[in-house]
Amino acid sequence: MKTSQLATKVVTGFLKFKAGRPTPLFASYNVTGRCNMKCTFCEWWKNEIPELPTKKALAAIDAVCKLGVPFFDLSGGEPLLRKDLIVLAKRVASHGCLVSMNTNGTLLNQNRVNEIADAFDTVVVSLDGPKEVHDQIRGVPGTYDKATKAVSLLKKNGVKVGVNSVATPWNIDILPQFIEEELRSKVDFAQVQPMHPYPPSPENVPSSKQVSKLIDYLLKLKHSDPSFLAVPTEFLKGFEQFFKGKTPKICHAGELYVAINPEGKLLACPARSDLMLGDTLCDSVDNALKKQDSEAWRKVSACKGCWLECTVGVSMVLKNPLKETSQLLGLWTSHKK
Ligand SMILES: C[S@@+](CC[C@H](N)C(=O)[O-])C[C@H]1O[C@@H](n2cnc3c(N)ncnc32)[C@H](O)[C@@H]1O
Repeated sequence: MKTSQLATKVVTGFLKFKAGRPTPLFASYNVTGRCNMKCTFCEWWKNEIPELPTKKALAAIDAVCKLGVPFFDLSGGEPLLRKDLIVLAKRVASHGCLVSMNTNGTLLNQNRVNEIADAFDTVVVSLDGPKEVHDQIRGVPGTYDKATKAVSLLKKNGVKVGVNSVATPWNIDILPQFIEEELRSKVDFAQVQPMHPYPPSPENVPSSKQVSKLIDYLLKLKHSDPSFLAVPTEFLKGFEQFFKGKTPKICHAGELYVAINPEGKLLACPARSDLMLGDTLCDSVDNALKKQDSEAWRKVSACKGCWLECTVGVSMVLKNPLKETSQLLGLWTSHKK
């Protein structure tokens, strides 16, 4: 039932988008600005924005889901810090959306896994490499052990599990081996995206040889196991230009994807906390998405772009809508529902 409802949402959204009436395919709600980790490359925990209480958070979800969004992600900060996370996830699901979570996995344990398995279609755990590499990047020993334990608990409980890895100079050489030896037999899918912001500063850029080697590997993997590597081929090819600072701007902020910040502001893009189009609790979300001469929309035009799976990856669905959408639906639809 859910799959046909979803396919209808995707097709309707796509047709509306083509007709110039944006209906986002993907929404990301940063349910909290709090995080139990202080990852070196992450900006999100640095300015802690107050979060909405449950009732208002549910209203923010309703406002955005009513746009007809098929894919809805709960992220943060660390979403598992929110005690009402399950209530929020169930509300998203009640709108017929596929609901996912992006987590560092460290707070997921035996006590919580059943309710998480019940409420989420997909959980994406962040893992940037084998134990020493991941713990070093995340800055806290033991992070890898907790995250991998979370992966196996989720799998045991029938959840579709993906891993998101950020490609940086510190893990780029080990990523192929990590994916082959530690992910392929253990998770349902993998995503890789380059370390942001864009354009990258020189100390964040691996050598061009390292980048080519990673791309070669990822393209081979995508060819041999397309549904395992859950990002479009063109997205992988773009890593080279990204690290050279020459990436083309592919942007459908506020059109194909939107985000909600912890205090309920509607953001044009999950990647930029400053692109506030309105307030999900006070404004009409439909109106806020109409392009106008406002500071936020000017910032969207002035943005130099990015190369993230949740932005450019979504835009690329448009290049090959049938193929990419059926893959997305396959990835997001859990075995148990
Ligand atoms: C901001 S985190 C929030 C969710 C959760 N706390 C976690 O660590 O997965 C969402 C995703 O963004 C990724 N991420 C964080 N900083 C990034 C950066 N500078 N460039 C690319 N991805 C980044 C993380 O690795 C994670 O997979």
